[in-house]
Amino acid sequence: MSKPDRLLEVRDLRVDVGERTVLRSVHLDVPAGAVVVLMGANGSGKSTLGMALAGHPAYRVRSGQALLGRTDLLSLPAHERARLGLFVSFQAPPDVPGVKNNLFIRTALNAQRQANGQLPQDAFDFLADARATAERLGLPESILGRPVNEGFSGGERKRNELMQLALLQPRLAILDEIDSGMDVDGVRALVAQVQNLRAQGTGFIVISHYLQLIEQLQPDTVLRLDQGCISQRGNAELARQIARTGFSPAVAAQSKSFSAKRTVET
Ligand SMILES: Nc1ncnc2c1ncn2[C@@H]1O[C@H](COP(=O)(O)OP(=O)(O)O)[C@@H](O)[C@H]1O
Ligand SMILES: [Mg+2]
Repeated sequence: MSKPDRLLEVRDLRVDVGERTVLRSVHLDVPAGAVVVLMGANGSGKSTLGMALAGHPAYRVRSGQALLGRTDLLSLPAHERARLGLFVSFQAPPDVPGVKNNLFIRTALNAQRQANGQLPQDAFDFLADARATAERLGLPESILGRPVNEGFSGGERKRNELMQLALLQPRLAILDEIDSGMDVDGVRALVAQVQNLRAQGTGFIVISHYLQLIEQLQPDTVLRLDQGCISQRGNAELARQIARTGFSPAVAAQSKSFSAKRTVET
C-alpha cells in the first residue's frame, strides 16, 4: 500500500555514542505537514536522535533504517541529507568564525535548490528575503553581515536558527530545544513559523520541555523517549501528564504524595 504523505520513517534505530548505546530501538513516523513533539528526561537521547539523523560522525548508527521520502538517509553523508531537505537546528548552535551569516545561509539554500534542479537564487533577491525575514523574526539586519553566531546572545542564536529554517524551507525540520533562551516574542514567532511551513507540507520533530509551546503547536503526536526507546505515544495530553508528574518515577511518587499532603492540609 502506498503511503503518500509519509515523510520520515525511522525503524529500529540503534545509535552508540562513545562506549554507550544511547538509542536501543527507536521507531517513529513523521507524515508531511505533521508536528511530532519529542520529550524525554535530560540525557535520554533526544539530541542523539537529531544528530544521528543529520549524520554527525560521533553518533554511530549500529542498525535500523531511516527513510526520508523514499531515500535511505543513513547511507548518505551529512551534506547530502541536507540537500534532500533535512534541517536540524542545534540545541547549542556553534560559532562559525570567518563565515558571514548571509553567505552561509545562501550557500545552503543554493545547494538545496541545485539538488532540486532549480537555478541558484540571485544574491540581491536573497538579501531582500533575508532582510525581510530577519525583521519579521526580530533580528537586527546587521546580524546578516556578521560571522555565524559569533558574539550572538543566546536568544539571537535561537532566532538565527529560526531564520535559517524560514529561508531554507526544508522538507523535514528537527528543532532541538529551539525555544530555550528565547523570549516570548521569539516563541510567538517560532509558533507562527512552524504553522506556516507545516501548511506547506514541512514535517517537524520538535524537542521541547516547554508545555505552553507544545500546546500552542497543536502537535499531531507527542512521543516520550526513555531507555533508548519510544516508551509512550500520545497527543498534547501526554505532554500535560509529563508536566504534572515528571519523567522519573521517584519524582512522580514524590509529587503525588506532595499533592495528597496538600489536599489533607487544606
Ligand atoms: N558527543 C558526545 N560525546 C559523549 N557522550 C555524548 C555525546 N553526545 C551525547 N552524549 C551522551 O549521550 C547521552 C544522551 O545525550 P543527549 O542525546 O544529548 O540527551 P538529551 O538531548 O535527551 O538530553 C548522554 O548520556 C550524553 O552524555
Ligand atoms: Mg538535548
